[in-house]
Amino acid sequence: MPRTQFVAAPPTGSELRQISGPATNWISQLRRQRRDPHGAAQEDENTYGPVHVLNMFGSRWIIAAGPDAAQQVLMNRDRVFANGPAWKPLNGPFFDRGLLMLDFDEHKAHRAIMQQAFGRSALNSYLEALHTIVERHIAELPEGSVAEGNPVLMHKRLEQLTLDVALEVFMGARLPRAEADRISGAIMALLHAGGAMVRISLPGSRWRKGLRARRTLEVFLAERITAARDQQGADLLSVLCHATGEDGERFTDEDVVNHMVFLLAAAHDTTTGTLANIVYNLAKYPDWQKRARARSLDMPHELGYDELADLTELDWIFKETTRLCTPIQIEPRVAVRDTEICGYFVPEGSMVIVPALANHHRPEIWSHPEEFDPERFSDDRAEHKRHRMAWAPFGGGPHKCLGQHFAGLEIKMVLHQLLRSFEWEVPQDYIMPLDMSATPLPEDSLPVTLRRRG
Ligand code: HEM
Repeated sequence: MPRTQFVAAPPTGSELRQISGPATNWISQLRRQRRDPHGAAQEDENTYGPVHVLNMFGSRWIIAAGPDAAQQVLMNRDRVFANGPAWKPLNGPFFDRGLLMLDFDEHKAHRAIMQQAFGRSALNSYLEALHTIVERHIAELPEGSVAEGNPVLMHKRLEQLTLDVALEVFMGARLPRAEADRISGAIMALLHAGGAMVRISLPGSRWRKGLRARRTLEVFLAERITAARDQQGADLLSVLCHATGEDGERFTDEDVVNHMVFLLAAAHDTTTGTLANIVYNLAKYPDWQKRARARSLDMPHELGYDELADLTELDWIFKETTRLCTPIQIEPRVAVRDTEICGYFVPEGSMVIVPALANHHRPEIWSHPEEFDPERFSDDRAEHKRHRMAWAPFGGGPHKCLGQHFAGLEIKMVLHQLLRSFEWEVPQDYIMPLDMSATPLPEDSLPVTLRRRG
């Protein structure tokens, strides 16, 4: 049993409890969590209570475990938990002034404008371009076999598709291949930089490449804004250039650049990681692949907004995959003044963590939480309705993911077409190795046997 550490005591006379936790150093803590993430989370909660403290990455994290604590922190009714100072140490300077980094009144005003780019009519306007890209990429997929030594690396393929969505649907840019590769490369460098271990700008470092990538994207976006302001196109950049708040306020050019840089990053690994995970799950559970395919074959090739929602089995599979392998594993916040979470005293300046991934594995909510069981989301079972924050891969409250519906449309459209055109499998003993350092992504690019359907 490790020694116990304590967070500051509540003020005298207060009935709030004092937060405690294991005094384990953060490297041992990280090892322990990598070995058995859910076992470690459960053990800490059993020993120290749902709100406890852990040493992580050289600082102290207050873990607000369970759906009640998640609701209190993410809903943030007392406006006491801030995003900017919490995400910045994790993400670095690469997404400065992106929507997720803004707080309180400023965040509310920017979100009100940006919401127009994610409303139903805007989403409908992206569908045509989205469909064209997905159709092109699915048509270009080769056949391949793991046994014959020429597997198809599905994650790589899905990444190329998502990067084209970023260029064409987000920025309205149909570019020559070399220029498309330069901009896609900048998006990828930006994503890799935030998770770098060496967090200063040394020559050749991921950090320096990230700073250069941000500059490349800033210049590219700034050049496109002039044209986008003159003419309303059907891409996200164009919509942001013309969107207005309740009192007619608009984003400046600088705002549009900052928001676009963040959106490109927010959309990428989350979407490709989820797609790769679904492809993997459907290979591991061929009965579910058959069930999802049967529904897709019953529907037209090109689906509209409402029809995509009718892919019932795919919807459960999407939900179950993001439950088991949550793309954003934690939601960090900083307490801007003394406060409380579920009766525990939280001093000003504390880093508070909502453990989204661990919350998706709680046995009091999910039956056999480690099992892949998409039907738990059916109307009959509806395990996700046992608590408002039971299933929350897109977060909750004022910072809830704005791209949730966009992500759902893209993911379902890709899988619908993939299921109609291909069958795929992995060897029986294959377990996809995941890099969990940020958004979980397959370390081996997910090699599968892929056959075109006759
Ligand atoms: C499976 C895919 C995705 C997942 C699981 C996901 C998850 C999340 C989560 C958990 C947050 C909240 C983080 C927090 O509260 O600290 C968030 C915020 C956000 N996401 Fe997503 N996301 C996905 C895809 C997308 C896409 C495709 C876009 C854009 C097209 C997007 C745009 C945003 C934006 C703008 C925010 C910030 C909202 C705000 O601060 O008000 N996301 N996302």
